[in-house]
Formats: sequence, structure tokens, C-alpha cells
Amino acid sequence: MKSAIVTGGGGGIGEGIARRLQAVGYRTGIFDRDLEQARKVAAKIDGAMAIQVDVTDPQSATDAVAEFGGEVAVLVNNAGITAAGGMAQPPDVFRRILDVNVTGAYIMMQAVVDQMKALGGGAIVNITSSAAIAAVPLIGAYGPSKAALSNLTKAMALELAPCGIRVNAVAPGFVAAGLGARSIEDPALYASRVAQVPAGTLGTAKDIADVVHFLCSEESRYVHGQEIVVDGALTLTAQTRTFDTGST
Ligand SMILES: NC(=O)c1ccc[n+]([C@@H]2O[C@H](COP(=O)([O-])OP(=O)(O)OC[C@H]3O[C@@H](n4cnc5c(N)ncnc54)[C@H](O)[C@@H]3O)[C@@H](O)[C@H]2O)c1
Repeated sequence: MKSAIVTGGGGGIGEGIARRLQAVGYRTGIFDRDLEQARKVAAKIDGAMAIQVDVTDPQSATDAVAEFGGEVAVLVNNAGITAAGGMAQPPDVFRRILDVNVTGAYIMMQAVVDQMKALGGGAIVNITSSAAIAAVPLIGAYGPSKAALSNLTKAMALELAPCGIRVNAVAPGFVAAGLGARSIEDPALYASRVAQVPAGTLGTAKDIADVVHFLCSEESRYVHGQEIVVDGALTLTAQTRTFDTGST
């Protein structure tokens, strides 16, 4: 049985991804810094296993992969953090966001790549964000970290394609889970976010998990280095201008 690792699997989107990968036949590892949370999620998914990891620590990553064991064919780099603050964001917070969101994903790729090579291939999916594509103010390093992860996805795809390892990314927009869960409890925030999304609803963890599953599957066997934006057209609104075509 092939195995899949979902970092940040104890969180809202991670749970959805783990649920989906286990359902399609992977022995799934819920890797999270918060072991209690990972255990809670694993308890809900028959066959899944909770493993503690700090993705920013290479030794922790290596130990966690060894503890999980098995043949790791899929890695989903989903662990991520954010913090408020534009220019006011302290440099140590800025650095920490880059460390988890970018370096952490790199460290996890390093921890599994030899196994994937030995298997003859694998799939890595990095969870970026619409904030990687359209700049968002007042979130400090979050957008830049996700933009860096997008670029790392392409660089790693080039490096690892000859080994049969495909590296791709999924960029969620507003998701009503995990970091976005606050929007469910705050009606005003919910309404303001929905109003920005042309598709008229916020995303769900399942919306993200479905696309992650596609990028891990045989159906995407020739897809390398791509970032699929899953955001109900939110990002397009920042990339396009509406022309008044008038009557002439
Ligand atoms: N929710 C959204 O609206 C949204 C939108 C775009 C992108 N994303 C991205 O989706 C991913 C999942 O986010 P979520 O919304 O489910 O948030 P979440 O906070 O529910 O989940 C993130 C998980 O990562 C774990 N984590 C944090 N630092 C870690 C570390 N050093 N090592 C291991 N685990 C660590 C946390 O414990 C948590 O369980 C993140 O990368 C986030 O940036 C979320």
C-alpha cells in the first residue's frame, strides 16, 4: 500500500486532503506540529496515522518520515501560518512565516525525495494561496512566502521530473475552514468575502482536496510545475479590468 503525507494535517484544509487521500487508498500520515490536533483528525479517518513534526526542523522531518515508515508516494506540503501586520510586522514574525511556509516545504521535500526516487516516482503538491498571485496588503510575509513556494514548485518540478517525481501547487482563495474559519463565525466578514468572489461562495476543504487528489493521480501524469488556482475566480478580479463598453 502506498503512503501519503499531509503536513498541517491537523488543520482545516489538511483534514480534508487527508480524508480524501485515505479514501482513495493511500495510507495517510497526518503530520502536524500539534500532535493532539493530528490525533483528533486521525481518529476520524479510518487507517490514518498521526505523526508529530516541526517542518522547519530537518531532524524532526527525517525522524517523522522514518516513524511513519512505508513507501511515501505522495507529499502534500500544506502546513502554513500567517500573522497580521504590514510594515508593522516584526522581523522575527516575518522570518518565522517564511521559515514555515517556504523552508518547511523544502525540508519536507528533502526528507522524502530519496524514497520517491527509489519507488521510481511520486507526486508532491504544495499548498500556496491566491495571495501568491495577487498581492494582498497587511499580511506581512504571508503573500511573499506563498509566491516563493510557487516558484520553488516550478524549480523542484524541473529538477525532479527526470526522476518521475511531479511537483505541482494548489492555490486556494477564501476557504471557510482552517485559517479562514473565522469567516464562518463572523457574518460581516463572511458577507464581505463572499461579495469578492465571482462564483458567489467561499471554498471548502473538499474543493481543495479534490484538486490535490487530481494532482496526485495518474490522470495528471504529464502535469509538472503547475499551480492550479482554486478560488471561484477571486484572483481573476485582481488581474482584469472591467471596460465600460457603453452603447457605441
Ligand atoms: N483557509 C484559507 O482560507 C486558506 C487560503 C489560502 C491558502 N491556505 C493555505 O492552506 C494551508 C492550510 O491552512 P488551513 O487554513 O487549513 O490552516 P490551519 O491553521 O487550520 O492548518 C495549518 C496547520 O499547520 C500546522 N503547522 C503550523 N506550523 C507547523 C510546523 N512548523 N510544522 C508542522 N505543522 C505546522 C498547524 O498546527 C495547523 O494544524 C496553509 O498552507 C494555508 O496557508 C489557506
